[in-house]
Amino acid sequence: MSIDHVLKLYSETIRSPYLHYGFWDDPNSVDLDQITLLEIKDAQHRYIEHLASFIPNNVNSILDVGCGIGGNANYLQEKGYKVETLSPDHFQQSVIKEKFNGTMKFHHCKFENFHPSKEYDLILESESVCYIKIDLGFKKARDTLKNGGYLLASDYFVHFRDGSKNSHLKSSHDKEKYLASAKANGFELIQEFDQTENTMPTLDYGKYFIGRFINPAMEYGIYSAKKNYPKTSAIIGKMIAPKIESKLNQLDLIDSEQFRKYRQYMIYLFQKKDA
Ligand SMILES: C[S@@+](CC[C@H](N)C(=O)[O-])C[C@H]1O[C@@H](n2cnc3c(N)ncnc32)[C@H](O)[C@@H]1O
Repeated sequence: MSIDHVLKLYSETIRSPYLHYGFWDDPNSVDLDQITLLEIKDAQHRYIEHLASFIPNNVNSILDVGCGIGGNANYLQEKGYKVETLSPDHFQQSVIKEKFNGTMKFHHCKFENFHPSKEYDLILESESVCYIKIDLGFKKARDTLKNGGYLLASDYFVHFRDGSKNSHLKSSHDKEKYLASAKANGFELIQEFDQTENTMPTLDYGKYFIGRFINPAMEYGIYSAKKNYPKTSAIIGKMIAPKIESKLNQLDLIDSEQFRKYRQYMIYLFQKKDA
């Protein structure tokens, strides 16, 4: 199966075992000029610590759906849970195999196509909800969980649409549709937490980093190419201009003001109810 190269890029640059936004306890006190890579990694660790605090006491077995490169699974295993992982991504499969010396059970498929051979106490979907089809995902979660089992979902959802084509309106689920599907598929919402503000410093830092380092480096590269190779750079410039335009539009995705306008980063704990 294929590789998500954007997620691979994050894992190779940040070099933390997590592929999520992280959780900042006190977002208002964050000074972007002072943030270090270590603090970003700490925030990512804090995210799973905080998320795990929602796991009910009677949970023993966990299926980590959309497990990424295994940071969450490792944390949960160390806390004593029996953990299995699932992802359609080939690169992540090889990372998990190496990280756990082949001892971590890994299901290599999309969750929608998963054929469970046992029932689990809890399914974790940490920043993987938006990749999974809503209705099929809840139906599959029903087949995969014990009666009374839990689905712990943590991800961003669209709470507002204004008819624009803003990037925040793509590739995440509508909050109301998601909650309605949960109900229709026999899941009761028993706890929720809005962690939008706790996740935004990571976006703000991404924007700060691009403005401070990436853009000036690109500007210098363009200046240098135009000066030294004027004809070639003019031809290449015309060829890649539309691509650069669409990439610049995607930078909206790291604008926290726009995020807040359209999205909320939620934690939902659902319980599977008897049919
Ligand atoms: C943003 S990463 C989050 C990784 C990890 N859960 C974390 O919190 O660090 C999204 C994960 O969802 C996985 N994914 C994508 N499509 C999926 C699907 N249809 N079913 C299950 N997982 C999927 C990706 O391969 C990746 O592992």
